[in-house]
Amino acid sequence: MIMEELDGGQHTHDDVVVAIDGPAGSGKSTVAQAVAARADLRHLDTGATYRALTLALLRQGVPPADADAVAAKSADLALELAPGRSGPVRVLLDGSVMGEELRSAEVSRAVSAVSAVPAVREQLVALQRAVISLGGIVAEGRDIGAVVWPQAEVKIFLTADPAERARRRARGESPEALALRDRRDSGRAASPTRVAPDALVIDSTGREVADIVEEIVALIAAARAGRDR
Ligand code: C5P
Repeated sequence: MIMEELDGGQHTHDDVVVAIDGPAGSGKSTVAQAVAARADLRHLDTGATYRALTLALLRQGVPPADADAVAAKSADLALELAPGRSGPVRVLLDGSVMGEELRSAEVSRAVSAVSAVPAVREQLVALQRAVISLGGIVAEGRDIGAVVWPQAEVKIFLTADPAERARRRARGESPEALALRDRRDSGRAASPTRVAPDALVIDSTGREVADIVEEIVALIAAARAGRDR
């Protein structure tokens, strides 16, 4: 379910959808947030939706490796996305806004197994699409440009070399755990991390965030100009 928030009114913008995909530690969250702020767009972190669902299952004692139990329990969870006019789309679990608890090592360890379950992906992709269809949004994840929203006007795949990604890894996650999560995310049968054929691949290794943000903001300006023609 998506919640109406703040102004309670019309959330639809006649504006672009920007997809930013990439593996953990590629810098995509930092870049996506900054791009959304600069271009006055909403920001949807789809990884947070997989993390919130994983946290809910862990709280209920569902073993992440038990795909049948994960699929059965996921459907009953009260997970909501609350888009505002711009800025971060909040993720709510049982009515509470989720934050740092989604980044714990425990959730990071379990999330890849949960997100490989097709029923989980169907459920979360539907939730993500409901928000992205409002337009005016930067959506970041693994499969946005290839699967969730292939019609995105700006499509980026961000990479970085493994040493740099290990330095930027999520809090509490060892380089080994990050590498394992990446292997699982790229090797799974259901919607693996994948570069859309028409995505622009940007290697962030050794580059300033501000520089990459400028590059993407320029692409957004060009896409907006194209829409106005
Ligand atoms: O982006 P982040 O590292 O927070 O994502 C957490 C996990 O959620 C990933 O390791 C992956 O298993 C899953 N994920 C996914 N598809 C997305 C975004 C995240 O499967 N679009």
